[in-house]
Amino acid sequence: MKVLVTGGAGFIGSNFCYYMLEKYPDYQLVCLDKLTYAGNLSTLSRALKNKRFTFEKGDIADKKFVDGLFTRHKFDYVINFAAESHVDRSIENPQVFLVTNIIGTQVLMDACRANGNIRFHQVSTDEVYGDLPLDRPDLLFTEQTPIHTSSPYSSSKAGADLLVQAYHRTFNLPVTISRCSNNYGPYHFPEKLIPLMISRALANQSLPVYGDGKNVRDWLYVDDHCSAVDLIVHQGTVGEVYNVGGHNEMTNLDIVKLILAQLNKPESLITFVSDRKGHDLRYAIDPSKIHAQLGWLPKIKFKDGIKMTIEWYLNNKKWWQEIISGAYKNYYDTMYKNK
Ligand code: NAD
Ligand code: TYD
Repeated sequence: MKVLVTGGAGFIGSNFCYYMLEKYPDYQLVCLDKLTYAGNLSTLSRALKNKRFTFEKGDIADKKFVDGLFTRHKFDYVINFAAESHVDRSIENPQVFLVTNIIGTQVLMDACRANGNIRFHQVSTDEVYGDLPLDRPDLLFTEQTPIHTSSPYSSSKAGADLLVQAYHRTFNLPVTISRCSNNYGPYHFPEKLIPLMISRALANQSLPVYGDGKNVRDWLYVDDHCSAVDLIVHQGTVGEVYNVGGHNEMTNLDIVKLILAQLNKPESLITFVSDRKGHDLRYAIDPSKIHAQLGWLPKIKFKDGIKMTIEWYLNNKKWWQEIISGAYKNYYDTMYKNK
C-alpha cells in the first residue's frame, strides 16, 4: 500500500507518519508538505532514514505540482492533514486559510478523481460545530450538530468538509471525514496553548491567558487521534463523518496551573490578557459513533499524557528552542543542499 500523508511535517501529521511506519511494516509513505512556518523537517529526521518514507516539498493548492506527484506515485490512500491551523493567525490573515484549507483540499480530491478514484480522508476539526455554552455540560457535539463556525480557521475547515461531502455525492469519490477535539503531545508547535505555556514557564516568562481563562477545550493525546484516523481510513464507511474525542474537558486556566505545578513554577507567572476575538467558549465531543461502529477508544489518560508531553518538551529542548529562534527554517536547505 502507498499512502500520501499531507502536512506530515506538522504536529499531528508527523505523529501519524511515525504511527503508520511502525504499525504497517509493508506500507510506503509519501509525505507532502509545503514547510510553512508550522512545518519542520527536523521533526521527520527519524522517518527520513526509513526506506519506506519519502518526503516531497510542495503545496497542496498547486495543481500542477500535485498532478505531477500523483503521476510519479500510485497512491492507495490520500490522508489530508495539511492546513493552516492556528485560530489567532486566521484572525490576522484569513486568506491563506482559504487557499490552503479549501482550494488545497479541492486540488487533492481532483487528483484522486483523475487517478482512479483514490480513497481520500479529510482530517477536520470539532471547531466546525462552533461552540457550546459553559453552563450546559449535558450538551456535546455529535455528527448531527449543525456546522456553525466562529473563526476564519474553522470556517475554512467547514468549507473543506462541505466540499468533501459534495465530491462524494456528485463524483462518488470514496471519502471519510474525522472531526477531532484539541490534540496535545510531542512536536506540537509552540504557538499553541500547551507547548507555549510549557516553553514560556521553563524560561520564567509570563503566561498569557486569554480573557478569564474559563474557556473549555476537550484534550486528546495525539496518538489516540492517529489510531482513530487509521481505523476510519481502513474500516470506516465511505461518505461518513466520525467525531473523535476522549471526554476530557478542561478550562484553559486549569491546564496552565497544572503545567506550572508539574514544572514547579509559581502561578504568579499567569497574566490575563485581552480575549481572542470571537473566542469559542467550550468544545466537547460525543465520540459514541466511532466507538460503536469501529470500536475506537482512547488509550492515554490526560494525567499520563500531560506528564509524557511535559517530559518530552524537557528532553527535546533543542527542537522547540530552534523553532523559537527561527533556526529550524534552515533545516531543509541543510538536508537537501547536495541532492
Ligand atoms: P500544524 O499547523 O502543526 O501542521 C500543518 C502542516 O501542514 C505543516 O507541516 C505545514 O507546513 C503544512 N502545510 C500548511 N499549508 C500547506 C500547503 N498549502 N501545502 C502543503 N502543506 C502545507 O497543524 P496540526 O495541528 O498538525 O493539524 C493537522 C490537521 O489536523 C489540520 O488539518 C487541523 O485542522 C486538524 N486538527 C488539528 C487539531 C489540533 O488540536 N492541533 C485538532 C483537530 C484537527
Ligand atoms: P489553541 O491552542 O490556539 O487551540 P484552539 O484555539 O484551536 O482551541 O488555544 C487553546 C485555548 O487556549 C483557546 O481557548 C485559546 C487559549 N489560549 C490562551 O489563553 N493563551 C494563548 O496564548 C493561546 C495560544 C491560547
